[in-house]
Amino acid sequence: MSNESLANLLKEERRFEPPADLAANANVTAEAYEVAKADRLGFWAEQARRLTWDTEPAETLDWSNPPFAKWFADGKLNVAYNCVDRHVENGLGDRVALHFEGEPGDTRSITYAELQREVSQAANALTELGVQAGDRVAIYLPMIPEAVVSMLACARIGAPHSLVFGGFSADALATRIQDADARVVITADGGYRRGKPSALKPAVDEALTRPGTENVRSVLVVRRTGEDTAWTNGRDVWWHELVGAQPEQHTPEAFDAEHPLFILYTSGTTGKPKGILHTSGGYLTQVSYTHHAVFDLKPESDVYWCTADVGWVTGHSYIVYGPLSNGATQVLYEGTPDTPHQGRWWEIVQKYGVTLLYTAPTAIRACMKWGDDIPAKFDLSSLRVLGSVGEPINPEAWIWYRKHIGGDRTPVVDTWWQTETGGIMITPLPGVTATKPGSAQIPLPGIAATVVDDDANEVPNGAGGYLVLTEPWPSMLRTIWGDDQRYIDTYWSRFQNRYFAGDGAKKDTDGDIWLLGRVDDVMLVSGHNISTTEVESALVSHPKVAEAAVVGATDPQTTQAICAFVILRGSAAAEASGEAESAALVEELRAHVAQALGPIAKPKRILPVAELPKTRSGKIMRRLLRDVAENRTLGDVTTLTDSSVMELIQAKLPGAS
Ligand code: WT7
Repeated sequence: MSNESLANLLKEERRFEPPADLAANANVTAEAYEVAKADRLGFWAEQARRLTWDTEPAETLDWSNPPFAKWFADGKLNVAYNCVDRHVENGLGDRVALHFEGEPGDTRSITYAELQREVSQAANALTELGVQAGDRVAIYLPMIPEAVVSMLACARIGAPHSLVFGGFSADALATRIQDADARVVITADGGYRRGKPSALKPAVDEALTRPGTENVRSVLVVRRTGEDTAWTNGRDVWWHELVGAQPEQHTPEAFDAEHPLFILYTSGTTGKPKGILHTSGGYLTQVSYTHHAVFDLKPESDVYWCTADVGWVTGHSYIVYGPLSNGATQVLYEGTPDTPHQGRWWEIVQKYGVTLLYTAPTAIRACMKWGDDIPAKFDLSSLRVLGSVGEPINPEAWIWYRKHIGGDRTPVVDTWWQTETGGIMITPLPGVTATKPGSAQIPLPGIAATVVDDDANEVPNGAGGYLVLTEPWPSMLRTIWGDDQRYIDTYWSRFQNRYFAGDGAKKDTDGDIWLLGRVDDVMLVSGHNISTTEVESALVSHPKVAEAAVVGATDPQTTQAICAFVILRGSAAAEASGEAESAALVEELRAHVAQALGPIAKPKRILPVAELPKTRSGKIMRRLLRDVAENRTLGDVTTLTDSSVMELIQAKLPGAS
């Protein structure tokens, strides 16, 4: 984040006290911080009692082999039973679990009793396909109820799921299927996106032609759009034929608390995406507790809505596992916020009487741009808590969210966490904290975080550095799938005995934490983390590209825009010498990246150059390229092998003399 936006962040001085009635009836009060401080493990052992265990755990944390944690290791439970069956057994079978709203306007409300039947049928179907506990299942679906049902069915039979966001390409899907060695893929003919059917199954067909995907025995296909779909007999099975024919009863088996629940891939700075592994008992404990605490969920009266896609960790933790373990009623929406009109979200809030809303700053900024008059047309008075996640929320957006969506009434909780942390870590509590626009403020009860300098010393109030987590937490990642060493190197080597989150942060004069963005080379584009290395690898995989360097340049619309510098191979450079040829090549490369990684990773600008700035050890100096991309005067160039390189690059820029 630039110094200028940091200065803006700190200009907003207003504080917002919790509404009195919310504070008086809050699920969690200030006392929780004291209780957890006095006995952190005792606090989490207490929270684990929110769940129903087949074997109650006697042990809380085993940290005898750091950084490999075991939480509640001698306990046994079934995660799906906790999210579904126990609510039915408690007489809540008629409560709506999901109000599904399809993009074309089709709707379906699913009660907990119905969910129990569907999850049981899907679990029986997966078993019929030969899926056993421990086998991995890849899920590549739109935001439809079958996505939730599939995840819970996997959890029910102990088969770790690996969701791949429906916007990813066949290549990205193939890499993830290979790395997890998936046995079954669950997909759909397609979903609806911006008013049109958008096919999914062709990407699965293409991914399964790649080497390393041979162990996929079956593809289970949900019929969503009804469009024609290529079919591989003996491999492809319709969901409605197989799942629909199964018995509606299934006995959940208890698994160890440390049984793997899911793998979810996150972009790395170096090399291939990291398969973040989460397990069962600790994960469910923390997502259940945090959803209860941070949203002040009253399951009998609240209607909760998280706008994330289930393919991201926010969807895993705060659509599926947190809310359902708490018996919540929630909205599940398939589409985009502006289809068929820019008030679609607010229409949904009004229609279902949504009380708790969880969304991302990028969406809030888009709504701001569309205008205040759009939400003003709808009755949003049901809302009582608003949440934000995914990137730092600038104070303007925070204030707009509170004022135009929350009626200047609702607390806004800015929640910091990561795929790796599994659950929310740093956030205000709606009934306790006087909120500060732009700050995630304080670690939750039971969570230990601070900001340190380069030498691992805790910074004083008023200073900045790196965010670290200083104690293990129940929903922490257990490792990177198949790569323990990378887990150690990435998170536990920068500082001794502390988890390095990779985010810059600052403590203000009150000691509250402000998150300042990634310190490494992950770009943030429209709310998605995209690694520079992945885009570079995609560019270099094109036959005409010899070398590539990618940076994220500040962009008012998308936070960062991808800007690539490429060195062309000999003959390609000659061919692309004319302006028209060069423009055609740039388009070809952009399309190539979109094909390799998905449209979100398509560079906004590509600049063919003769050389790249490198240090003597051969590392590309992205810092300098960022200066160029953001039209700044260059920083220190003394560590470059050849400082004339930068002059050559600048001479290539549009507008250069
Ligand atoms: C990175 C994790 C957590 C689910 C969505 C993203 C950034 C996330 C905040 C926030 C400032 C935030 C961080 C973090 N981030 N929430 N409230 N304030 N930054 O999950 O893809 O694993 O990304 O998102 O940089 O490290 P993810």
